[in-house]
Amino acid sequence: MKRLVAVAVCAFAMCASGVIWAQPPEQTGAGAARGGGRGGRGGRGGGGRGPTFPQQTRALASPEVIARGKAVYGVNCGACHGADLRGGDQGGPSLLRSLSALSDQHGETIGPIVRGSRQDKGMPAFNLNEDDVTAVAEYIHSVLAQVGTQARPPGAVDPDKLNVLVGNASAGQTYFQAKCASCHSVAGDLKSIASRYSDPRTLQNTWVSGGGGGGRRGGGENAKPSTVTVTLANGQKLEGILVRKDDFIVTMILPDGSRRSIARDGDAPKVEVHDPNEAHKKLVPALTDDDMHNVTAYLATVK
Ligand code: HEC
Ligand code: HEC
Repeated sequence: MKRLVAVAVCAFAMCASGVIWAQPPEQTGAGAARGGGRGGRGGRGGGGRGPTFPQQTRALASPEVIARGKAVYGVNCGACHGADLRGGDQGGPSLLRSLSALSDQHGETIGPIVRGSRQDKGMPAFNLNEDDVTAVAEYIHSVLAQVGTQARPPGAVDPDKLNVLVGNASAGQTYFQAKCASCHSVAGDLKSIASRYSDPRTLQNTWVSGGGGGGRRGGGENAKPSTVTVTLANGQKLEGILVRKDDFIVTMILPDGSRRSIARDGDAPKVEVHDPNEAHKKLVPALTDDDMHNVTAYLATVK
């Protein structure tokens, strides 16, 4: 019940903020889009920082939430939407110019998209928990808040110059021995990993996400979906591939290929999700940029 109330307040807050914005949301979005576009150099540069776009005046989430969102984004979204949100190799549009992102407050617009409302248009459904969805939305806002006139977050690397092989391979090897060797070996399962993923960016995305993009569905050849076990009130256990889970419903594909949706009411029935990429999701928040580059540099030598 608590959650329902929160959602209602949130939806109201969104409307309310639409009312107090100096411009109607559509215009604001379009203005930001123009200023933020690739061709938008100087689009709003001349007149100083002038208009206060909602994205630039909003309060940011806490650094912890933003850091978590950054990690979630890096693992799940970066390959398609770009490390810097400007759009990526795998076909995701720029989020710097996205009306959905610009009008979102705390995930109420981004959340449904992340959960699968645009699957027909190539945006996969993610089964991220509530906190991760909010965190990724807050991270996107934190970048939007800093977007300069050229739509590049200050301090962000020019994507044309982005070279992920800037790390130190021997430091990467040390890190690997300490953090990865309990599950992997470069002579065993990761043998010739650099030949399998010859593009360094793909290599990096692969190891950071654990292959397949960290719980993403429908994309990536190696994507291993999460599975779910639902224990019904009568004790019967259903196991299958998780399609969707929220507070009210869990949907799965059973081994015979049929789809089954089961209503949830609090903790009943019991739902256990098993994510094959769990280990990698836990790694990410602890990774520094240096660790990431060093490990990639090391793995790139494993031909
Ligand atoms: C496999 C590539 C892919 C991945 C991974 C991906 N997206 Fe998308 N995303 C897309 C595509 C394609 C669209 C455009 C859908 C459309 O036309 O409505 C999109 C649209 C969006 C939009 C709406 C943009 C707009 O203005 O219409 C948002 C917001 C978004 N994605 C956020 C995310 C987030 C957050 C993640 C990570 C949790 C993510 N995406 C991961 C491909 C991807
Ligand atoms: C607790 C065990 C565990 C740890 C620790 C771990 N991984 Fe993984 N890793 C896995 C599992 C399980 C998969 C397969 C996931 C899947 O199939 O979806 C995987 C997948 C991968 C892949 C993709 C392999 C392929 O053939 O596509 C790479 C690369 C990788 N891990 C690198 C690393 C690196 C580098 C580290 C340390 C920074 C690390 N892993 C730490 C368990 C682990």
